[in-house]
Amino acid sequence: MKIISQGAEAIIYLTKNNTIKKHRVIKGYRVKEIDSELIKSRTKREIKVLNKIPINSPKIISSGDDFIEMEYVEGIVFKNAFNLDNCKVIGEMIADMHDSGIIHGDLTTSNIIEGKDGKIYFIDFGLSFFSEKIEDKAVDLHLLFHALESKHYKNAKEAFELVLEGYKKSPNSKDVVTRFKIVEKRGKNKH
Ligand SMILES: Nc1ncnc2c1ncn2[C@@H]1O[C@H](COP(=O)(O)OP(=O)(O)OP(=O)(O)O)[C@@H](O)[C@H]1O
Ligand SMILES: [Mg+2]
Repeated sequence: MKIISQGAEAIIYLTKNNTIKKHRVIKGYRVKEIDSELIKSRTKREIKVLNKIPINSPKIISSGDDFIEMEYVEGIVFKNAFNLDNCKVIGEMIADMHDSGIIHGDLTTSNIIEGKDGKIYFIDFGLSFFSEKIEDKAVDLHLLFHALESKHYKNAKEAFELVLEGYKKSPNSKDVVTRFKIVEKRGKNKH
């Protein structure tokens, strides 16, 4: 097995069978019991969401308390493959995800992969949850906007406009975008 990423919470291996194994590990600086509960609950959450998500995401192959073996999405994370061409489709996919009641919870450009097949895939559902609330959907968009801003400063606004264009696919898009603007203002007032 080859390690392809060692993030905050998980080690990601590419296995000999060309699958991904996401293994959540104890970090050490938190209480051990709390850590293992967190590992279990995030892994469980990610399994549940991956099984229900209606948009392109890796399919689960096997799982345990602290690991998920899933399909390997061959491609490049959007952070490194950033382009305006895919932004609208990303917005459409977020709309489909939200319409199915799923909030991603960690919408960054490292959690979106542009596949070798040209399709977009969403990954990393450890912080996801089920909600129909306009506020939760707006906060999801807010996270993505700031991820875009921090990584691709010049094009962030344009990119996000395209995401919102795609998001119009959702019947709730007007309400969500109105709330997004309120969330943005709230953020600004904090500084
Ligand atoms: N199914 C997959 N196919 C291809 N690459 C993957 C896959 N899953 C994860 N990766 C790669 O590993 C990186 C980290 O994976 P992921 O985002 O799931 O974990 P994390 O951010 O470390 O964990 P956490 O769930 O704690 O936020 C991704 O940014 C991506 O580069
Ligand atoms: Mg991630």
